[in-house]
Amino acid sequence: MRMRKKKHSAERIAACSDFLIGDPAIFYGRPRDIFGNDDPVLLEIGCGKGDFALGLAERNEHKNVIAVERIPDVAMFALEKAKADFERRRTAREADDNADAPPLRDNLRVLIGNADYLADWFAPGTFSGLYINFCDPWPKKGYYKRRLTAPGFLGMYRKIVKPGSILEFKTDHGDLFSWSLEQFDAAGFDILKVSEDLHSLPDLSFNIETEHERKFSAEGKPIYFARVRFPSGGEE
Ligand SMILES: C[S@@+](CC[C@H](N)C(=O)[O-])C[C@H]1O[C@@H](n2cnc3c(N)ncnc32)[C@H](O)[C@@H]1O
Repeated sequence: MRMRKKKHSAERIAACSDFLIGDPAIFYGRPRDIFGNDDPVLLEIGCGKGDFALGLAERNEHKNVIAVERIPDVAMFALEKAKADFERRRTAREADDNADAPPLRDNLRVLIGNADYLADWFAPGTFSGLYINFCDPWPKKGYYKRRLTAPGFLGMYRKIVKPGSILEFKTDHGDLFSWSLEQFDAAGFDILKVSEDLHSLPDLSFNIETEHERKFSAEGKPIYFARVRFPSGGEE
């Protein structure tokens, strides 16, 4: 994703620091110290401007979500959305004035960094689910190792998820999709659900749309979707 450098992005990111994991190494093996609870943790890699992560956190009130994005000027939007959403709910809660209301949901954090380092940041078995949406296809020969569904990444993800966790993958890129299915299969994943035209499914209620998905489907492009299960054993 190419974009012009945003003005004041450091200040804008700093203003959302409550929703930012600044130094993940501090929390290695201790996600409780991020979220204040032991709820399962879901991971989105390459979250872009954050719509999917926000929806995932909203639908999974009793799970935590970490959204990783390597471009600070893009992650900034995800952070600002997380903050605005929390503040909107806090204002509504204050207006409601219900002393018996449960604590306000606060289950989304953004991490600015490159997925290459996930296994340095997170201990084995940290995550219960993983999401990759519209990752860069790296179509040129010689660059396939950079695809987020390449064998090297799948092996790393396997280390940081719990055994039997689910990975969901969406893309608009047919070649990347079929290549990725081959990689999932070769790495021993169970292929649970595949669609080469997600938006034609009769029941889409499970789907959380991403920014890119909205754009591509508005252009009439099919959206490819796979839900796969990590091989049992979790860690390699
Ligand atoms: C095409 S965009 C899709 C954004 C969003 N997931 C969506 O569907 O709208 C891919 C995003 O993944 C991020 N990304 C690509 N490789 C990454 C990596 N190795 N680590 C972290 N983020 C990465 C890019 O910076 C970009 O924002």
